[in-house]
Amino acid sequence: MQLKSIATGLLLAGSSLLSAVSASPAASSRGEIVRNDHANKQGGKIAPKVFIISMFAPEAEAWWGIPEFNLLAHNITVPGFSPLFPDAHCTSDYSVCQLVTGESEINAAVTISSLVASPLFDLTKTYFFVAGIAGVNPEVATLGSVTFARFAVQVALQYEFDPREIPSNYSTGYIPQGAYAPDEYPTSIYGTEVFEVNTALRSLAVQFAKTANLSDSSAAKAYRAHYATEAGTYKAGAADPFVIECDVATSDVYYSGNILSNAFQNTTRVLTNGTGLYCATAQEDNATLEALLRSSVRNLTDFSRIIVMRTASDFDRPYPGEGAMYNLLYADQGGFEPAIENIYNAGVKVVEGILNRWNTTFAKGVKPTNYIGDIFGTLGGTPDFGPGRKESLVEAGAITKRGLMMKGMRRRSFM
Ligand SMILES: *[C@@H]1O[C@H](CO)[C@@H](O)[C@H](O)[C@H]1NC(C)=O
Ligand SMILES: *[C@@H]1O[C@H](CO)[C@@H](O)[C@H](O)[C@H]1NC(C)=O
Ligand SMILES: *[C@@H]1O[C@H](CO)[C@@H](O)[C@H](O)[C@H]1NC(C)=O
Ligand SMILES: *[C@@H]1O[C@H](CO)[C@@H](O)[C@H](O)[C@H]1NC(C)=O
Ligand SMILES: *[C@@H]1O[C@H](CO)[C@@H](O)[C@H](O)[C@H]1NC(C)=O
Ligand SMILES: *[C@@H]1O[C@H](CO)[C@@H](O)[C@H](O)[C@H]1NC(C)=O
Ligand SMILES: *[C@@H]1O[C@H](CO)[C@@H](O)[C@H](O)[C@H]1NC(C)=O
Ligand SMILES: *[C@@H]1O[C@H](CO)[C@@H](O)[C@H](O)[C@H]1NC(C)=O
Repeated sequence: MQLKSIATGLLLAGSSLLSAVSASPAASSRGEIVRNDHANKQGGKIAPKVFIISMFAPEAEAWWGIPEFNLLAHNITVPGFSPLFPDAHCTSDYSVCQLVTGESEINAAVTISSLVASPLFDLTKTYFFVAGIAGVNPEVATLGSVTFARFAVQVALQYEFDPREIPSNYSTGYIPQGAYAPDEYPTSIYGTEVFEVNTALRSLAVQFAKTANLSDSSAAKAYRAHYATEAGTYKAGAADPFVIECDVATSDVYYSGNILSNAFQNTTRVLTNGTGLYCATAQEDNATLEALLRSSVRNLTDFSRIIVMRTASDFDRPYPGEGAMYNLLYADQGGFEPAIENIYNAGVKVVEGILNRWNTTFAKGVKPTNYIGDIFGTLGGTPDFGPGRKESLVEAGAITKRGLMMKGMRRRSFM
């Protein structure tokens, strides 16, 4: 997640969402669609149709105490999950499950790796639904907006100078690894820089999400009004919340302000060869996707069954005339509550859409029409970003059956 004030956010969420849960103890019996338990068990393993991936407590609680289904019918402890969130949660018929990764890239990578390695689950036909909050680019979307990504880009995987030591002709202190200046294509590849997911599936998810009524707040309305300017640069940021297709940046560093946001917007453009539209900023997605990529190579999961949805809780940059520090630390942006609520509002339509059309559409899968996977082409196909499969492997120093592919770039230790 990325939001303005975690402490405030948790307090707000705790007061509204937890009370909503305790206020509706009969939620599980109220209108829940009851399905056959056995349909979602394969060889004794739990075979959910949808696995919701939450990153921290408020994102998880958004799904609890709702009329559509009860995720707390089964709690299943999975070795390797976060000590804060040790259980997967599933509906009584196991058709929908949820986990909480814990925040940032390390937690996401280890939790999802543990899930896909668990003998308790059969995830071969499961749809993975990343559903979290995020910072948002006001050029593209606004507080409370619901974004669905094609690309997840690990923007901070770069060299970095402190601002006081940035060469005077550089626009940012971030330089792609193995490059000599900002915005050059990196020549040192780790393989997690960019992930691309199924756009045909994304279109269906967006269709479902657009049937939801999105929440807003009066504080968010007031704050986003500041983004309305003559020039209209932030027209999207000044509008009411909406559903949109645009891409997500992953960074452990919770960055903010015009310059870093622009720098990482540029990084997204460079790494996706101009096709990525930077709009959301979060701390986990690339890690989640790398874990799912590795299990998909082994056919334990299906990389074409991933949806990455982020709802916008805060702006990544100030409005014209506002300071970067005020926007990040002090402003009451009012986006946290609607963002959390819209995870449920939009997300439940996606889950129901998949369940309702399981037999006709989703059981067999939605065939991707775009390239899906990583920069190496690990899952087959030809990446539509990056320098090419062979070049990427060389630049990553991959070890093949014929030995080490030599890196053409300078190594850190030689610099
Ligand atoms: C599962 O855990 C949640 C909270 O973590 C709890 O509210 C719920 O009652 C538990 N469900 C069962 C079946 O024990
Ligand atoms: C995020 O994951 C995608 C998909 O694997 C990868 O292409 C991208 O490089 C990653 N981005 C970062 C910044 O790690
Ligand atoms: C910045 O200046 C240095 C020399 O001072 C030069 O080598 C380099 O090419 C310049 N870089 C850019 C991005 O203009
Ligand atoms: C959205 O709100 C309208 C007007 O209040 C209502 O008619 C409609 O049923 C709502 N849709 C959903 C999906 O809740
Ligand atoms: C982003 O790229 C544009 C166009 O190349 C450039 O003018 C701008 O300085 C870059 N911004 C940053 C912060 O690097
Ligand atoms: C995964 O499935 C594909 C397609 O059915 C098959 O070609 C491949 O050999 C399988 N990989 C493994 C590791 O089982
Ligand atoms: C979907 O298929 C299953 C298994 O064939 C069947 O039990 C179920 O009734 C079907 N559901 C719908 C909504 O048609
Ligand atoms: C992406 O851009 C890099 C750098 O300009 C280029 O070498 C590479 O061929 C491009 N890849 C694709 C798939 O267009």
